[in-house]
Parts: sequence; structure tokens; C-alpha cells
Amino acid sequence: MRRPQRGGSKLREQLSNHDKKGEAVEHRESIHGEWSSRWVFVLAAAGSAVGLGNIWKFPYIAGENGGGAFVLVYLLCIALVGIPIMMAEVLLGRRGRRSPINTLRFLTQEGHHHPAWEYLGWAGVVAGFLILSYYSVIAGWALSYLVWHITGTFQGIDAAGAQQFFADLTGSPERLLAWHTIFMVMTTLVVARGVRSGLEQAVRVMMPALFVLLLVLVGYAATTGHFGEGLAFLFTPDFHRLSGNSVLIALGHAFFTLSLGMGAIMVYGSYMPHGASISRSTLMIAGADTLVALLAGMAIFPVVFANGLEPGAGPGLLFQTLPLAFGQMPWGSLFGALFFLLVTFAAWTSAISLVEPTVAWLVENHGFTRAWAALATGLAAWVLGLATIFSFNIGADWTLFAHCQIEAGVEVCSGGKTAFDLLDYLTSNIMLPLGGLVIALFAGWVMQRRLVQEELRLYGKGFEVWYFVLRYLSPVAMIVVFLGAIGIL
Ligand code: PFF
Repeated sequence: MRRPQRGGSKLREQLSNHDKKGEAVEHRESIHGEWSSRWVFVLAAAGSAVGLGNIWKFPYIAGENGGGAFVLVYLLCIALVGIPIMMAEVLLGRRGRRSPINTLRFLTQEGHHHPAWEYLGWAGVVAGFLILSYYSVIAGWALSYLVWHITGTFQGIDAAGAQQFFADLTGSPERLLAWHTIFMVMTTLVVARGVRSGLEQAVRVMMPALFVLLLVLVGYAATTGHFGEGLAFLFTPDFHRLSGNSVLIALGHAFFTLSLGMGAIMVYGSYMPHGASISRSTLMIAGADTLVALLAGMAIFPVVFANGLEPGAGPGLLFQTLPLAFGQMPWGSLFGALFFLLVTFAAWTSAISLVEPTVAWLVENHGFTRAWAALATGLAAWVLGLATIFSFNIGADWTLFAHCQIEAGVEVCSGGKTAFDLLDYLTSNIMLPLGGLVIALFAGWVMQRRLVQEELRLYGKGFEVWYFVLRYLSPVAMIVVFLGAIGIL
């Protein structure tokens, strides 16, 4: 029994087409359009995957968790969990051909499954929205550093000066708001132009540029005389420095970096051309994402070592350590500007994929034009971004979960989580792994095997191995991450 669909007229028409034509479902196209080729899908999904996670987060968490051994565990997580779940997410999207919310609704109705599975689509949209709100603020930092490098501000700066710059920026709500606003407008403008004229054009230009910039920067790092030291740090495993928690961080990061568990890859999959191979495309996307993370490490660590700086500097690695290093080097302003241009492109192509699931849903169900849907989504995430902005200044003391104790009669609290910490923690460590778990369960256990195989067009041993990993290995790994994140492990 099919329940009546809610939704806009285009969607209803499309659904009734499906009803009338039965198997013609195979050749449906999303009402939002389709990528012009499989290559564009690969570029777009790689654009979503390659972002602040690769260039900002990966190098500093690798630095904090001892380098090589962490990198090895991370690579295993990408191969054993990331790739199988990405294939599942793309196949759900391409079969549903709608926004994640409606894709899940369609698939549960198609297979007569319990309607509760629809909530996966909703949870994804909410997660994407929350991530976008803080992602845009951090991307705004990159924009401001881009401008500062262009104007040569960091030339000859010392450590205290670099720290002061960062503190001045993050301490000023007005400045953070201005950069956050600019980044959100850039993102919204691309999404408002549509799949072909907006998203596709953006990734066609920015992704090749990003790879060229990265190679130039790795080449530059090779001239520092400390390239070998950087490589040794990234690739020599020292298992003494790897804790159980590092493994959980690696697994959670594999999810974040591949944009899994929240519908971004699903909605991009819904625009994927009919005949394109999901498994081969996924391997390319995950390969590109991993390559960029490793190349970013190779571009950053030699520069850090060349200046005798600390690789485990934490989140400040990109915004305090690196400008200091560039400030000391020949051509530092130019290469610093190129570096932050790279970060901006990477964050921009990821942010558009965070907006798209909500925009597609608003167009499908609420009759919005794409431009209004992009504006409404951008505006709402912009407002929520205020919580992150204030976490660094006037709201730095508004924390939860602090450990307080009485010392010499005075209550001293530490380790509290700001709004930004909470948003990052909630999305990266809880919502994305849970979303990934549910995707694996839905594609592996709920959907009919025949439908899954039909969409994937993968047969023989290849399919059996993927299906086994998706049904057993990935869910267990996800549960481990989740339990670790909430402190049970
Ligand atoms: N993968 C992006 C990064 O590594 O920065 C972050 C991200 C984008 C996460 C889109 C989730 C998403 F849907």
C-alpha cells in the first residue's frame, strides 16, 4: 500500500510517472537536473569530500595523534568503512532521484518498509544544516587569511604576532560575522544557480585549480630542505603514540572527510547519470580525498619543521603556525595566499553540498524556487552560525559539561564545551556515525538485495565482498565509534 505523498506538483507528477510506468523507474531523472557526465559527479562528490576536514583538521589531528601510525589507521578506516558506506549512500540517492528526505520516503514505500526509516533523511538534513553553520565561520577565517597574505601582513611576523592576529580575529564578533556573511553569500549564490549552472560550473573550475595549487605547494615544501622530515612524520608509524581514542578519532574523521552520513553524497548521487558505475566512481572520490589529505600534510609539515615549529599544535596549526612559517620564508606571502586560496576553494565546494539537500527538499515539497530555497537555507544557517561566532568571544564562557571542583574554597571549572565544540561534537561524533550506521543497515539489511544489486550493477565476488563488509563490518565499526564518542568505550 502506498501512502499519499506530500510534496510539490513536479514531484507528484514524477511519482505518478513512476507509478504508471512501473519499471520505467530506471530511467528517471531528478527534477533538479543531472550532472553532464560521470566525471562531473566524481568532481562534485570529491569537491564535497575535500574540504576543511582534509586541509585543516586532518594535519592537526595526525599531528596530535603521533603522525604515521594514525595515518595508517585512518587509511584502513577509509577502505573498510568509508568506501563501502559511500557506495551505499550513492546508490540510495541514484535509486531515489530526490532530496534525501524524499529519497528515503520513496525507497521505504517502494519496498513496503517501516515508515520510520524516513527519519534518516530528516536527520541528515538537520546534521548538514548544523555543520554548515560552523563550517562557514571557519571558512571565513580562511578568507580573512587569504586577504592578509595578499596584502603581505604576515611578512616577517614572529610567533607572538601570529598568535595575536588569530586572537584578534576570533575575539571580534563583528569581524567573524563579516567573513561568515561573505562566505555564506558565496555559497548560497552557487546553489541558487542550480545543478548544472551553479554546482557543476563551480566544481569544474575549482577542483582542477585546487589540485594544481596543492601540487605547487607540495613543490614549494620540497624546497624547504625539510621535506624528508615531513614525510617521515606522516609515514613512519610509531604505535606507542597511538591510543584507543586515536582509533576512534580516525574512524570518525573518515566519515567527516568523505561527507558521509548526512545526505550530501546521497543528493549528489541523485544527479548521477544512469549508466555510470557507482563502485568505480566511489573509489576515485575516496582516492582523491585521501590523496588531498596526504598532500596537504606534505605541504604543511615540511614548512612547519623548516621553521622549528611544533607539529602537534592542534587546531591552530593552520591559522597560527603556518602564517608564522610563511612569514619567515622567501615568497612567503605569495605561497601563503595560494595556500589560503586552496583552503577557500576546498571549503566552498564542500559548503555547497551541505546546502543542497535542504534546498532540494524545499523545492520538492514546499514549492520554493531554487533561489528562494537557497536564500532561506543560507539565512537560517547564517543565524545559527552566530552561536559559533560567539563561542570564540563574548560566549566563550557559555559552556556545558565542564568538570568543576572546589580548590581552596573556590569553584574551578575546566573542559567545558562551547556552542561550537558542541555542534562539532554532536555532528562529527554522533550524528554522522549514526547516519552512516543507519545507511549501512538500510542498504545492507532492509532493501531487497535484488534492488541493491540492480542499482550498483556489481556482480560476482566484488558484490559479495562489498555486501559482507556493509552488512557486518561497517555497522560494527560505526557502533564502536558511537559508543566511543559518548564515552562508553
Ligand atoms: N567532507 C568535508 C570536509 O572534509 O571538510 C566536510 C563535510 C562536507 C562533511 C559535507 C559533511 C558534508 F556533508
